[in-house]
Amino acid sequence: MAPDLNSTKDLFVFLGKSVFSVLEDMVFTLIPKPQKNVAGEIVLITGAGSGLGRLLALKFASLGSVLVLWDINKEGTEETCEMARAAGATRVYAYTCDCSQREEVYRVADETYKAFLPAMIANDHGHLVCISSSAGLTGVNGLADYCASKFAAFGFAEAVFAETVAQKQMGIKTTIVCPLLINTGMFEGCTTKFPSLLPVLEPEYAVRKIVDAILQEKVYLYIPRVLYFLVFLKSILSSKIATLLFEYLGIFNVMDGFVGKKKKD
Ligand SMILES: NC(=O)c1ccc[n+]([C@@H]2O[C@H](COP(=O)([O-])OP(=O)(O)OC[C@H]3O[C@@H](n4cnc5c(N)ncnc54)[C@H](O)[C@@H]3O)[C@@H](O)[C@H]2O)c1
Repeated sequence: MAPDLNSTKDLFVFLGKSVFSVLEDMVFTLIPKPQKNVAGEIVLITGAGSGLGRLLALKFASLGSVLVLWDINKEGTEETCEMARAAGATRVYAYTCDCSQREEVYRVADETYKAFLPAMIANDHGHLVCISSSAGLTGVNGLADYCASKFAAFGFAEAVFAETVAQKQMGIKTTIVCPLLINTGMFEGCTTKFPSLLPVLEPEYAVRKIVDAILQEKVYLYIPRVLYFLVFLKSILSSKIATLLFEYLGIFNVMDGFVGKKKKD
């Protein structure tokens, strides 16, 4: 008898919390969700030497955060460092770090998740942000290695998120970002068949959405929004119809014009 009572109670708790969450989501679609204060918080950004990393550094500089900038490109990191100071950051620390070298990866892992997570758990405070990609949501032809790394990044971040939920570490937040194409040069030459539906995003727009998602403590951010719908369709349609849809949307031709980032002389 007791287990039945318990499971009925669990069911009502689940339904009650779900109704509350749906109402909360509805309210926050009508009014903007309050944003948290990140002044004085330590923000560590990998890949801070250019593109999104640099713009994120400048945004967090203007919000009064303490910046720790990592990049393989010494010159780029130093440039970002100077720009962040000009944007109002008083404490900026720049490090050169190659995440593709095994020892460096271990060092980075040690100095990021592995080293920071215990402190975050002890204080029940922190925010982990993973920049994955739409290529971390669906396989893309011509991008097998990139997809593998982006699926891995997504899975790792989501597993750590699940860990914090299971351990009731509700003060540790996670944001997983999956953008389509952003005009930073990384995917120079790539285009989409329907730019009004699947636009190549401007970096400033992408960074604004990412920072808003962090400050509003959103777990998932897919940009543009149509990606949520495409991921949903992919999960309910048969593989044949999903493939036809992706073919029609030109997803298989996105990489056709790829030239990538031009190297500096
Ligand atoms: N640009 C896009 O279309 C797009 C789309 C989806 C996801 N993303 C993701 O967004 C993130 C930022 O990309 P971006 O567009 O700003 O590119 P970017 O090339 O402008 O910036 C990437 C930065 O990472 C640094 N970097 C590269 N290899 C490194 C290494 N081994 N160790 C340390 N630093 C290294 C580079 O020096 C550079 O400063 C990436 O994770 C990328 O996969 C980009």
